[in-house]
Amino acid sequence: MLPVLRTDRLCLRPVVAGDLPEITRLIGDFAVSRMLSVVPHPYSVEDAETWFLQTEGQTGNGERVFAIELDSRAAGAVSVGKPAEAPEFGYWLGRSYWGRGFMTEAGRAALAWLFETTDTQTVMSGALDENTASLNVLSKLGFTGAHTYSLSVKSRGETLPGMRVQLSRERFETLKGGAS
Ligand SMILES: CC(C)(COP(=O)(O)OP(=O)(O)OC[C@H]1O[C@@H](n2cnc3c(N)ncnc32)[C@H](O)[C@@H]1OP(=O)(O)O)[C@@H](O)C(=O)NCCC(=O)NCCS
Repeated sequence: MLPVLRTDRLCLRPVVAGDLPEITRLIGDFAVSRMLSVVPHPYSVEDAETWFLQTEGQTGNGERVFAIELDSRAAGAVSVGKPAEAPEFGYWLGRSYWGRGFMTEAGRAALAWLFETTDTQTVMSGALDENTASLNVLSKLGFTGAHTYSLSVKSRGETLPGMRVQLSRERFETLKGGAS
């Protein structure tokens, strides 16, 4: 079971069934889903339930996803993927929460938990070329080694150019220690 992680401004905790209506509302915003790979648009509570049933809290070894809670409400989610040699890091926030550094704060906490509690050596991620905010988040968290790839985006029914990046345990720990 995932723990509860507290940062200066946020609480990261396991997703619960009661979050699904709010998650549906926030991720149902096309401004959010248009940047994500596997999220359909429009998005229904049934879509949220299907996703919820695949998470670690429900299966014991599914997707390790934290709800990002702010002011006692689910504001988004951050995932460190399923247990794998190089798990996938993914995230989103409701539109009204953008631009205040929340995702960098949440991402750093989730990655710290992953590296501290598992023997994961490398985490993979990626974003569309057009998603400057997300590429900035990845860069601020220390992801490097960008190479181009194509990302299929379900909500748009399109395959679009993106950047694939990775983060090593060593680099994350070096950055955490204040070096660059
Ligand atoms: C990507 C996302 C999670 C970023 O969340 P956030 O909390 O706003 O991110 P942060 O504030 O921590 O960092 C964003 C950075 O990008 C910058 N930024 C944001 N929008 C930008 C834009 N349109 N152009 C250039 N820079 C931008 C911010 O200034 C910030 O950089 P700074 O700290 O150097 O100022 C949020 O926009 C989102 O959920 N988008 C839709 C879903 C998505 O894209 N998920 C990721 C898929 S790969």
